[in-house]
Amino acid sequence: MVLLGRGIRHSLSPRMWEGIFAELSLSGSYALRDVDKTALDAAIADLRAGRVTHFHVTMPYKRWAFGVADTYDDSTVGVTQVANSLSLKGDQIMGSNTDVKAARILFSELPAPPQRVLVIGAGATAASLVCAANEVASTVLITNRTDDRSRALADRDWSVRTVPVLWSDRERHAAGADLIINTAPFGLTVDATPLARWPEGALLYDLIYSPELTPLQRLASRAGVRAVDGLAHLQAHAEATLAARTIAAPTIERMTAIVTTAAGRAPTRWGLLNGGQKSLP
Ligand SMILES: NC(=O)c1ccc[n+]([C@@H]2O[C@H](COP(=O)([O-])OP(=O)(O)OC[C@H]3O[C@@H](n4cnc5c(N)ncnc54)[C@H](OP(=O)(O)O)[C@@H]3O)[C@@H](O)[C@H]2O)c1
Repeated sequence: MVLLGRGIRHSLSPRMWEGIFAELSLSGSYALRDVDKTALDAAIADLRAGRVTHFHVTMPYKRWAFGVADTYDDSTVGVTQVANSLSLKGDQIMGSNTDVKAARILFSELPAPPQRVLVIGAGATAASLVCAANEVASTVLITNRTDDRSRALADRDWSVRTVPVLWSDRERHAAGADLIINTAPFGLTVDATPLARWPEGALLYDLIYSPELTPLQRLASRAGVRAVDGLAHLQAHAEATLAARTIAAPTIERMTAIVTTAAGRAPTRWGLLNGGQKSLP
């Protein structure tokens, strides 16, 4: 397997996948291909020639991957216009969106699905999380620094009420949400939180992972909310990839141990951010 992206040298994926291969006694390897767009044709040639069996695709090539696929493994890939996994099926390149699948896995672990969801961001990952939220919630609000992009994302063909919320109004709309999903790089490249106050009763699903809690995660942690962090999403993404390849995944406990070893800290999967894994009440 190969992770294809730009600026990905610090990705945890090789360490995590090497742990998974060892756990399952599989002979696979996981390499990083940190390339500019002139190298994308060569990646497709490698896939077609069988030199690479599976590409995971990350920023900034997820939309390219959607465009280059001949077929998709799931009808929702079309509405997201994003693929982050490419493999060969016969002579067709098959695109998959494992961010949608990871979110489905994690939403299914909630005692009740979220009803009113606020998604922060309107990029590739936001489209995937809106797609997964659209399957369970009754209302999905989208807010983004660039308001035109949240409007364009909300305008797609979703089945539930999907409403763009002005960036300047995000705080007001966060109150009343029962799940806040952050897909913008707060705590990564932006040393700030998108919300000044944590809305009472809301859970957090944060795509970001970093060695320490981010400002947004500290805010949620102080409010004692249950959360998914970026490590738990990465883990669920691996679980979805194994399922798509019909490989029985290690148990959640073993997967968690593998991610913890790779990251140097435990993922938070609907637990308390400063307290690791705790089951939901
Ligand atoms: N944990 C995981 O396994 C996992 C999986 C997928 C993605 N991610 C993370 O999710 C993040 C988003 O990925 P993506 O593919 O969606 O990227 P993307 O398509 O480039 O979108 C980035 C989003 O962040 C917003 N943003 C960027 N800088 C901002 C700032 N200073 N203030 C407010 N908003 C800002 C952008 O707003 P504008 O539209 O205004 O530019 C856009 O909505 C990345 O950090 C990525 O590492 C993690």
